[in-house]
Amino acid sequence: MKKILVTGANGQLGNELRKLSKDEKFDFIFTDVDELDIGSARACSNFFDTVKPHFVINCAAYTAVDRAESEKKLAREINVEAVKNLVASSLPHNAYLFQISTDYVFNGKSTVPYLESDRTAPQSEYGKSKLDGETEALRYSRSLVIRTSWLYSTFGNNFVKTMIKLGKERKSLDVVFDQVGTPTYAEDLAAAILRIIAKVNSGSKFVYGTFHYSNEGVCSWYDFACAIMKLYGLKCKVCPVESKDYPTAAKRPEYGVLNKAKIKSTYGIDVSHWFSSLERMIESLKQAGL
Ligand SMILES: NC(=O)c1ccc[n+]([C@@H]2O[C@H](COP(=O)([O-])OP(=O)(O)OC[C@H]3O[C@@H](n4cnc5c(N)ncnc54)[C@H](OP(=O)(O)O)[C@@H]3O)[C@@H](O)[C@H]2O)c1
Repeated sequence: MKKILVTGANGQLGNELRKLSKDEKFDFIFTDVDELDIGSARACSNFFDTVKPHFVINCAAYTAVDRAESEKKLAREINVEAVKNLVASSLPHNAYLFQISTDYVFNGKSTVPYLESDRTAPQSEYGKSKLDGETEALRYSRSLVIRTSWLYSTFGNNFVKTMIKLGKERKSLDVVFDQVGTPTYAEDLAAAILRIIAKVNSGSKFVYGTFHYSNEGVCSWYDFACAIMKLYGLKCKVCPVESKDYPTAAKRPEYGVLNKAKIKSTYGIDVSHWFSSLERMIESLKQAGL
């Protein structure tokens, strides 16, 4: 049975892969920093030599966008240097490497969905580190970089869970309406990655390079928050505010919508609308009593 190594498996995307792995005909090896610290070249090389993975999904990352402004070195160790370790360790085993990246590699000034070939110009230390991580991954001919946006899951902490928590505690909430993008349910991204792996494993051509994947549609954080309150059944009033009234350490893109035509046509990936995926996620939260 072919082996899939998942790094950073205790995060949002990693946990979604863990959940979906139960229905897959692969041998999964789930690791997080305690089992495999991808920042250590030696640990990676030893681990890969023992496990001999056929596919590697790197879900490990430094994702604290604002903290990255003051922890640049640490962010780069995980988002750039560690990717070099994964490439070096994948090479002797001819393993396919899936590296996850972000819409933050763009400057956010576009008015139409970003293509993979559009000029990158990250505005934050996090965005810069993720872009340099892409460059490292793409030095390897068996790499596939997937840029995604506004990831959320029933696992871990994210905007959806924060809105629900605050919506239960407060009567009203200010949320920015001048940054738009597309929320992405990590379960959908996990399913898309597994579909690509299944296709490659059954003989479809592996197409190297960068691909965009988010859910379908466009909304502002304000629209997203309104939808969360409505779907969860919370009475909390959401008030639209401008980003200038909500300063953050890291600059956020005003526009982060990704064009997904390439991943759809190359790998036959279907993409759900963000609202229907959010409905499914909130239903799962409720079923779990959360
Ligand atoms: N979250 C978003 O909105 C978003 C948007 C666009 C793209 N992305 C990208 O999507 C990917 C998945 O994001 P996510 O939200 O699932 O991330 P996440 O929930 O923050 O999970 C990342 C995991 O990696 C682990 N990790 C950190 N350093 C490690 C190391 N040296 N070795 C092994 N594991 C390590 C983390 O452990 P600790 O928690 O202990 O640090 C955590 O369990 C990332 O590449 C991220 O950049 C995320």
